[in-house]
Amino acid sequence: MTDKTYKIAAIPADGVGKEVVAAGRRVLDTLAEQSAGRFAFDWTEFPWGCEYYDQTGKMMAADGLQTLQAFDAIYFGAVGWPSVPDHVTLWGLRLNITQNFDQWANVRPVKFLPGVVSPLRKADETELDWVVVRENSEGEYAGLGGRNLSGRGPGNEVALQTALFTEKGCERIIRFAFDLARTRAVKKVSSVTKSNAQQYGMVLWDDVFKRVARDYPDVECESVLVDAMSAKFVLHPEDLSVVVASNLNADILSDLGSALAGSLGVAASANLNPERRFPSMFEPVHGSAPDIAGKGTSNPIGAIASAALMLEHFGLHDEARRVEAAIEHATGSGVLTRDIGGSATTDDMTNAIIAALTPALTPA
Ligand SMILES: NC(=O)c1ccc[n+]([C@@H]2O[C@H](COP(=O)([O-])OP(=O)(O)OC[C@H]3O[C@@H](n4cnc5c(N)ncnc54)[C@H](O)[C@@H]3O)[C@@H](O)[C@H]2O)c1
Repeated sequence: MTDKTYKIAAIPADGVGKEVVAAGRRVLDTLAEQSAGRFAFDWTEFPWGCEYYDQTGKMMAADGLQTLQAFDAIYFGAVGWPSVPDHVTLWGLRLNITQNFDQWANVRPVKFLPGVVSPLRKADETELDWVVVRENSEGEYAGLGGRNLSGRGPGNEVALQTALFTEKGCERIIRFAFDLARTRAVKKVSSVTKSNAQQYGMVLWDDVFKRVARDYPDVECESVLVDAMSAKFVLHPEDLSVVVASNLNADILSDLGSALAGSLGVAASANLNPERRFPSMFEPVHGSAPDIAGKGTSNPIGAIASAALMLEHFGLHDEARRVEAAIEHATGSGVLTRDIGGSATTDDMTNAIIAALTPALTPA
C-alpha cells in the first residue's frame, strides 16, 4: 500500500529532452522505492513534440490540455527541432501549456555546484546563490501583434509585437518574489525593467513594485534596468537574492545566470500555478540541443534539479534536499558531463546522483 501516489504527465518532447526526462524519472522512482510506501509516482508519457507534428500537423493532441488537467504535475523535457519553425513548436506545446494553465510564476534558481568551474573568477571565493523569478503569463510573450498588417507585401511588410502588462499580472509576480525573498537567508528583491525606454508597461511595473514593496518593510529592494542588471550578474552577483523580471528579460537573464554557473545544462525551472487550479510544470531551462541530441552526453542535472523543485511543490521537502545534496555530491566528487568540463555520459551522471541518494549522505 502506498500512502500517496502522484500522477505525473511526462512530456520529453524533442532532442535531449528525451534523455534528461528519462534520467529525472529514474531519480524520482528511486526516491519512491526508498520511501517504504510513503509515496509513489504514476507516470503517463505523452509523445507530443516535433515528431508528433510531422505525423499529425499538431504539436500536441487536440484534447491535450483537458487530458493534462487530471495530473498532479507535468514533467517536461524540451521542445524544438530544426525541421519545424521554433515559434510553431514553442507556441504549439510549451507556451500552450504555461499560458492556458496560468503558470504565471517561473522560478529559475541559479546554483553554483561544487566541482563545476564557473567562468566567473569571483565564484571561487564568494558564496553565490540567487533565483530569477520570471513573469510567465504576459509581458513580451503575450502573443499580441500581427504581420503584414497593412497588406504592403514582400519588401514592405510591417510587423507588430506588443508587450502586455496588467497591474494584476505585475502585482502577483512581484508579491510572489517578495514572499520568496522572505524564505531566504538574504531577504532582498531586485526588480528589473527597461522603463527608461519602455515608458508604459514597464513604468506600470515599476509603480507596482514600489507600492508592493511598502508591504514588505523587512525585505530590502532595488529597481535596476535590465542592461545594468546583466552587468551586475557578472560583476556583483553576490548582491543578488531574488531577481524578478518580465517574461523576456527574465528568460535572458536566467540563461546568463546558468551560463555563469557553468552551463545551461545545470539550470532548473518550475512553471507554477501558485493557486493550484492547474497542474504546474517542471522542466530544465535548456532547449532540445540538437547539436548533441542522441549521443548520450547531455547533462541531466537541469532536469533532475527541476524534479527536486517538483518534490518541493508536493511538500516533499526532505526528498528535494536529498536530490540537491546528491547532485552536489556527484559533481563534487568529479562526475561531470562534457558541458561542465568532464567526460561523463548522461547515464554516468544519473547513476552517480542515484548512488548519492543514500540516506547516509542526506543532510540532517
Ligand atoms: N523550454 C524549451 O523547450 C526550450 C528552451 C530553449 C530553446 N528551445 C528550443 O531548443 C532548440 C535549440 O535551441 P538553442 O540551441 O538555442 O538552445 P539549447 O538550450 O538547446 O542549446 C544551447 C547550447 O547549450 C547546450 N546544452 C543545452 N542543454 C544541454 C544539456 N542538457 N547538456 C549539455 N549541453 C546542453 C547545447 O548543446 C547548445 O550548445 C530550438 O528549437 C529552440 O527553440 C526550447
